[in-house]
Amino acid sequence: MSDGILITFEGGEGTGKSTQMERLAQRFRDQGREVVVTREPGGTPIAEVIRNILLDPGLEPDGMTELFLLEAARHDHVEGLIRPALERGAVVLADRFADSSTVYQGFVRGLGAAVVRQLNIMATGGLEPDLTLVFDLDPDEAIGRAHGRNAAEGSASRLDEEPLAFHREIRQAFLRLAQAVPERIRVVDATGSEDEVFGRVLALVEAWRS
Ligand SMILES: Nc1ncnc2c1ncn2[C@@H]1O[C@H](COP(=O)(O)OP(=O)(O)OP(=O)(O)O)[C@@H](O)[C@H]1O
Ligand SMILES: [Mg+2]
Repeated sequence: MSDGILITFEGGEGTGKSTQMERLAQRFRDQGREVVVTREPGGTPIAEVIRNILLDPGLEPDGMTELFLLEAARHDHVEGLIRPALERGAVVLADRFADSSTVYQGFVRGLGAAVVRQLNIMATGGLEPDLTLVFDLDPDEAIGRAHGRNAAEGSASRLDEEPLAFHREIRQAFLRLAQAVPERIRVVDATGSEDEVFGRVLALVEAWRS
């Protein structure tokens, strides 16, 4: 069976990726589909250990080290979790995937999108999402949302501490990437309530499926 579907959720921090992914997962489950929800970096035991290294505020890997750690985690994630699930016919929803490396390491950290794309292809064995949703929101609002959540959870990550200019660059880089790959990437207006955003997500997914 190979009616597996891979949908990835991309965009800056606090734009609502995780919230909307859970809602879409429920929608597919209601339709009787097997749904696998996962995230990057992470998703397998090895990749989750690498995630802890990447998110450790006490460690400051340079851009290239960070990129190779991410790609190592991605390879394990694809071969250990995503590809088997797709082969079973599952719907796989991933909270970030290879496009995040293209944007964060390639464009913003300055390693070059072409280099990152090449490593992405090696790490994924050429597996691409069927559909990618880029959540687009002004960082002033998005970072406020993320801080509210982190305060509630008592958590934080290295990226939260970046200046707003960094988050603005991330936003623009995702929009550029979406323009460059319109056949796969759709931009979701992430303003408004969770329900409003979910309505937009469903409309995009339905349009893509039909
Ligand atoms: N439409 C919305 N309006 C207001 N708050 C929202 C909305 N969607 C999500 N939130 C809240 O904003 C915070 C960030 O949302 P969420 O965790 O889904 O974003 P994210 O893109 O996954 O962030 P990160 O990249 O940091 O994981 C959460 O506290 C969530 O409950
Ligand atoms: Mg999230």
